[in-house]
Amino acid sequence: MATNVNAEALKEAPIPEAIEKQAAHKQTVDPYNVQGEVGEDGVVKAIDYNKLVEEFGTKKIDQALLDRLERVTGKKPHRFLRRSIVFSHRDLELILDRYEKGEPFFLYTGRGPSSDSVHVGHTIPFEFTKWLQDTFDVPLVIMMTDDEKYLFSDKRTIEEVEGYCNNNAKDIISVGFDPNKTFIFSDFQFMGGAFYKNVVRLSKHITLNQARAIFGFNDSTNIGRIHFGSIQGASSWASSFPHIFGEDESKSVAIPCLIPCAIDQDPYFRMTRDVSARLKYKNTNISYAKPALIHSRFLDALQGPGTKMSASIDESAIFMRDTPNQIKNKINKYAFSGGKVSVEEHREKGGDTSVDVAYQYLRFFLEDDEELEKIRVAYESGDMLTGELKAICIKELQTYVAAFQERRAKVDDEAVKLFMATRPLKWNGNPRAPIV
Ligand code: TYM
Ligand code: TRP
Repeated sequence: MATNVNAEALKEAPIPEAIEKQAAHKQTVDPYNVQGEVGEDGVVKAIDYNKLVEEFGTKKIDQALLDRLERVTGKKPHRFLRRSIVFSHRDLELILDRYEKGEPFFLYTGRGPSSDSVHVGHTIPFEFTKWLQDTFDVPLVIMMTDDEKYLFSDKRTIEEVEGYCNNNAKDIISVGFDPNKTFIFSDFQFMGGAFYKNVVRLSKHITLNQARAIFGFNDSTNIGRIHFGSIQGASSWASSFPHIFGEDESKSVAIPCLIPCAIDQDPYFRMTRDVSARLKYKNTNISYAKPALIHSRFLDALQGPGTKMSASIDESAIFMRDTPNQIKNKINKYAFSGGKVSVEEHREKGGDTSVDVAYQYLRFFLEDDEELEKIRVAYESGDMLTGELKAICIKELQTYVAAFQERRAKVDDEAVKLFMATRPLKWNGNPRAPIV
């Protein structure tokens, strides 16, 4: 369905090769660009997630899998799972098999420190990762791709991204991760040793042709960008972290990870899975474990479906630093409404929740399923007006952001040092004792 978003206005400083792709007006979802199809009229359509599942060759998370997850963990699935916000996966079944058998696995996610402005959309994969950590009780590694954010920008300096990395690490810690089970690392700082060996091992198995096909690079792309995928991919392998999984690679290479991320990050890991399948440890039959994935949708820009909330466009996003008043003003002023133009028409025909940004944000942030359903029915029948819906959304977001800010105020440089120290982790899930 179309919204009144202008494609030009919402471009987030795309890299040159991405501009070429956009010119085709096709839906584009890759690590550098997220945009729905652009119609003849220049209007962006909502992102077609079913099409992504087909194109990328992932699997939809269906009710049977949710039931199994609940059975295996004894926990009600997170609201993102219940509402298909986390909607797709690769090999999640295999991770559940391991969980049931008490075999080790770990969680891996990351953040590209591109600015100091973290928005509510960024918190989605991290909130979900925290739930997975609480549920499975396994180690978690969080990669800060300071190198990526330098390589993929014509403006940012290395010093700038270092500053963002430190502040973003504080933001991530504020989500509530357990320091005993969580290792946060910066590529600039952690590169070397076992990790670098894996980076090189991965890069040796990727040709320029493959990188082009996966990421759309061209002859003018700087070679750092072309190589970067091997860095993001190499942290999928447990042997990159001997301080967590031990020095014995014959054991650690077989430990898989589960990667929670929004679906734009999938190309990196499709590539890594491909290489893993071909790699054996030394001259043995021991294979490198393929990373498993669990994908989320994007939180739409305030302007509506079709683009993701973007840190570089102030009017498109609710930032984690926004005051209650700023949140209120942004929702009231910019949030695309699925309501009708006049009260009379709205009362008669009702609003369209599928494009209404306030309603969509409530799907992400309102915990209570029954209350959400009541709101949907009221809005679609015309009983509830846009102003009332926006007021509920404003309140919910204000609460979410305020709780975050309270935790964030307590995170200091010492906490960052603790989470980023190269040290053994302690956890109680699989395997039942620490490996190191
Ligand atoms: P980055 O910093 O662009 O994004 C961090 C995570 O947030 C997701 N995301 C969103 N999710 C929902 N709604 C949005 N509007 C939205 N915008 C961003 C991203 O998909 C990502 O999961 N190269 C990566 C860093 C990275 C990484 C990883 C991410 C390294 N290793 C492993 C995931 C998993 C990056 O720049 O992410
Ligand atoms: N991805 C966020 C970033 O841009 C970090 C982050 C993760 C975050 N979870 C968060 C920020 C929750 C705010 C709230 O750095």
